[in-house]
Amino acid sequence: MEAREFNEILQDKTRMVERIIRSFLPEEEGYQKTVLEAMNYSITVGGKRLRPLLMEETFHFCGGSEENLPLLEPFMAAIEMIHTYSLVHDDLPAMDNDEYRRGKKTTWSVYGEAMGILAGDGLLNYAFETALQALEFCSDTDREYFTTAPCPEYNMQRLTRAMQILAKKAGIYGMIGGQTADIEAEGQEGSLEKEQLLFIHEHKTAALIQAAMMIGAVIAGVTQEESLEKLEKCAYDIGIAFQIQDDILDVVGDSGELGKPVGSDEQNQKQTYVTVNGLEQSRADVERLTKEAVAILDSMEGENDFLKELLLSLVHRQK
Ligand code: IPE
Ligand code: IPE
Ligand code: MG
Ligand code: MG
Ligand code: MG
Repeated sequence: MEAREFNEILQDKTRMVERIIRSFLPEEEGYQKTVLEAMNYSITVGGKRLRPLLMEETFHFCGGSEENLPLLEPFMAAIEMIHTYSLVHDDLPAMDNDEYRRGKKTTWSVYGEAMGILAGDGLLNYAFETALQALEFCSDTDREYFTTAPCPEYNMQRLTRAMQILAKKAGIYGMIGGQTADIEAEGQEGSLEKEQLLFIHEHKTAALIQAAMMIGAVIAGVTQEESLEKLEKCAYDIGIAFQIQDDILDVVGDSGELGKPVGSDEQNQKQTYVTVNGLEQSRADVERLTKEAVAILDSMEGENDFLKELLLSLVHRQK
């Protein structure tokens, strides 16, 4: 695939993901209007939409059919809501204390801290409300047609498994667990253990990428544990590489392009992959892990060249 062709396809696909996300956002009305505005602000302000995109592309990689897309779309919106909530809370003064995100003022710095906390809570809860909307589409393929007919057993199993993955990877054994270890490691004397750093990166970042890819597979109809484990490992590699690159960009990135400040980690006395392993080693590891991830996909039955190109393109991402 030519670079130009890849970039054009990526742009088109991102626009489509954008439309899907927006179609699930709440109306800004009622006495709780402010929190709804803050939620919609934080999610519509920008972002690469990588997780829903990975979910959709893994769905296709696993042979998901068009008629199952209505089941997938609520989960695509849900994963972006959970990811966005994690950023809204990550930026709070009590956490990373950052004022720019996705090229705009962070949610707390626009709406105040209390509303920042509530907007994060709102996005987290609304993610589950949204994912559960899949129940409304599971017995009929036409999204315009709402039906209360019972969900067929085979779809029910997919939805239950997908919910289970989403809940676990976002929680204390997933993203929240990683953020906890990340915050506690701030200012720690002496170098972080390699294991500790990998725990942080695996949980705070790789977990949601694992959820994205695994849910795509499950909704496509994958039931074999072995295949799901392979995708979980593939997404682990991608997630660790993604966070290493994030740590690299916090040192050498351009804040205009990134849409968020550089030097935030240093300011928070955070040890990162770069402070522990150096820039050169970090860059080499991003490349190595990404190649390993693509090799896992190559070892599987599915096919999706765009997905592989997408993973490889992340090695050189500047935002
Ligand atoms: C930022 O994620 C936080 C990390 C896990 C490194 P992204 O780099 O995907 O942020 P957006 O969604 O594009 O803003
Ligand atoms: C955050 O890691 C990962 C999350 C779960 C939000 P960072 O704190 O490094 O993310 P950025 O650099 O603020 O996007
Ligand atoms: Mg952080
Ligand atoms: Mg941060
Ligand atoms: Mg960072």
